[in-house]
Amino acid sequence: MNNISSTGHAASPEGITEPKDWSPNSWQNFPVLQQANYADRKALDEATRMLSELPPLVTSWEILALREQIAEAQAGKRFLLQGGDCAESFSECNSSLITNRLKVLLQMSLALVHGLEMPVVRIGRFAGQYAKPRSSDLETRDGVSLPSYRGDLVNSVEFTAEARNPDPQRLLQAHSLSALTMNFVRSLVDGGFADVHHTEYWDLSWLEHSPLADEFHKLTESLGQSLRFMETITGRDVGSVRRVDFFTSHEALHLHYEQAQTRQVPRQWGWFNLGTHFPWIGMRTAELDGAHVEYFRGIRNPLGIKVGPGMSGDWLTALLEKLNPDREAGRIVLIHRMGEEKIEQYLPGLIRSAAESGSPVLWISDPMHGNTESTAEGIKTRRFRKIKREMELAFEIHQSNDSCLGGVHLELTGENVTECTGGARDLSEKDLKRAYKSAVDPRLNYEQSLEMAMLIVRKHAQSR
Ligand code: PEP
Ligand code: CO
Repeated sequence: MNNISSTGHAASPEGITEPKDWSPNSWQNFPVLQQANYADRKALDEATRMLSELPPLVTSWEILALREQIAEAQAGKRFLLQGGDCAESFSECNSSLITNRLKVLLQMSLALVHGLEMPVVRIGRFAGQYAKPRSSDLETRDGVSLPSYRGDLVNSVEFTAEARNPDPQRLLQAHSLSALTMNFVRSLVDGGFADVHHTEYWDLSWLEHSPLADEFHKLTESLGQSLRFMETITGRDVGSVRRVDFFTSHEALHLHYEQAQTRQVPRQWGWFNLGTHFPWIGMRTAELDGAHVEYFRGIRNPLGIKVGPGMSGDWLTALLEKLNPDREAGRIVLIHRMGEEKIEQYLPGLIRSAAESGSPVLWISDPMHGNTESTAEGIKTRRFRKIKREMELAFEIHQSNDSCLGGVHLELTGENVTECTGGARDLSEKDLKRAYKSAVDPRLNYEQSLEMAMLIVRKHAQSR
């Protein structure tokens, strides 16, 4: 039982040290990368003040429930599925996009639960995934330089001075749209979202094009059978048998936005980012002495750290020491994103460093961000073959290094876009012109996402 102080906030639980000299705004004393340059500081302060008074998007008990699930995944008892757009956009906060994205994630998670024979931790990259790191502050076109597009949280993608000017009002708009997204997702999940639980309603026409058609047919048939069996014995629709948990995540990049949603709650110890369940630190902002790591060390949320080929073992060890000094279970998820050509070289050493640090971690694979390339015409894409290869190598490398791959992080959509090449229908570079909708990174489409889930099941079975 926690001790309750006179302010109503609990004292720190046994074994947990209070982060020293930390406050929600202490990050402001550290060098900060990837932030927008607001011309009007007063307007920014006013927007963040208003934001800090709005109701939260998530609750501390949901965050603590997610920590428990991640702790179970660290113990090998769950698999984590995290997915969604590279960047959400304000104009795409609508019913059909949200429904389709949730649908594909739930269908994937059903295939995983059934195929891996373990529960899945489901985390969407949504309800706040509005800020993007960029390689340069400015973008130049035909001799004209304007601020880079940093995501709808900051500015607008059109290449005009007005659109690219960072606007603090967008922080409030992002919060409202995140709340609308959350609200709809919560209702869909609560309502059971019936057709997700009936494989006969899934669009599986792509299966015929897969070289693994027979194997995948067997998987979906047995999945359908077990869902029907559950219905028969319980006499209820499977969707209502047990409500599924669904969590949200985004890259906590824009620190004014995150700070404004960082709160204390009655009868709980510590500070929580109540703007999302699972914030992560992007690869470009993981400096040990930088503002982002400073911000993250003081919040109680479970957190993700993107780990790229540029991260050394010492750097990772120091991050774990700083972000999880008490070696708490359920606190750290390491999301490696190496690229299929580099993963064999870089991952084993990092696995060793994490193991030696003594901090429990959950390793998950992001096979997307190390495999981005441009076509001759300059279109950003990713090859399904490489994404699959990195995921498969990740399973193998963990297994041969006494570790375990505990989940995947994918950029995907429930729509029939053509942004990544390959997959069962073997999309070509020509197809990219047909339905390329992402303003930032290329995503797996509905079919490619389901195919990836089935490939994960296949690989997992092989590596057992
Ligand atoms: C992302 O996940 O969209 C992203 C920018 O990733 P990373 O920080 O790994 O490059
Ligand atoms: Co991305």
